[in-house]
Amino acid sequence: MEKRYDYQKIKKAVETEVRRVCFLDTNQCGSSVWKFHILSVVKHSLVLGKKLEADLETLELAALLHDYASVLDKNFIKNHHIHGARLAGEMLEKMSYPVNKTEKIQACIYAHRGSVSVERKTIEEKILASADAMAHITEFVDMMFLTFGIRGEKTVSGAIWLKEKLERSWKKVIPEGREMIYDEYKTVLRFLDSAIMK
Ligand SMILES: [Fe+2]
Ligand SMILES: [Fe+2]
Repeated sequence: MEKRYDYQKIKKAVETEVRRVCFLDTNQCGSSVWKFHILSVVKHSLVLGKKLEADLETLELAALLHDYASVLDKNFIKNHHIHGARLAGEMLEKMSYPVNKTEKIQACIYAHRGSVSVERKTIEEKILASADAMAHITEFVDMMFLTFGIRGEKTVSGAIWLKEKLERSWKKVIPEGREMIYDEYKTVLRFLDSAIMK
């Protein structure tokens, strides 16, 4: 029989740990990743999850943990889907979270990256990958910070780079997600095009 567990307690502990590493000085992604990426991916995952009747618990924990490895250690960034799945397993085991549920979360984290060709089999895996890409579009201001602040791009070269990035993100989003953010996507492209066409 499956051991009983207190989901709210586990969620809170995971949230606290992910937030903690986001605000460490060693986080190469910058502390805005917490508010403008992680929480945004959680939000999109849950909205899509409700719509598609997916497992919300799996989605919520997977979304919180999906970029944990890259935030924790810059050496993990390149393979953060692999390290992230491993670290999530270790963390959830310590919290006595059921193994079968942990495995579902690990599969979502392992398959979340659009740039890595991993087959996404379950609806939860598809939703997390979509939510990750959606956050790039809906958190456009933070993407501007990445482009012009962190990368130091000039206006036109940055607009071209960002447009290509957002177009790649859009392609990764499932139809139900596209429907949710269609207006935002078209609006940000209009701003970027107006800079590119000048
Ligand atoms: Fe990622
Ligand atoms: Fe992400």
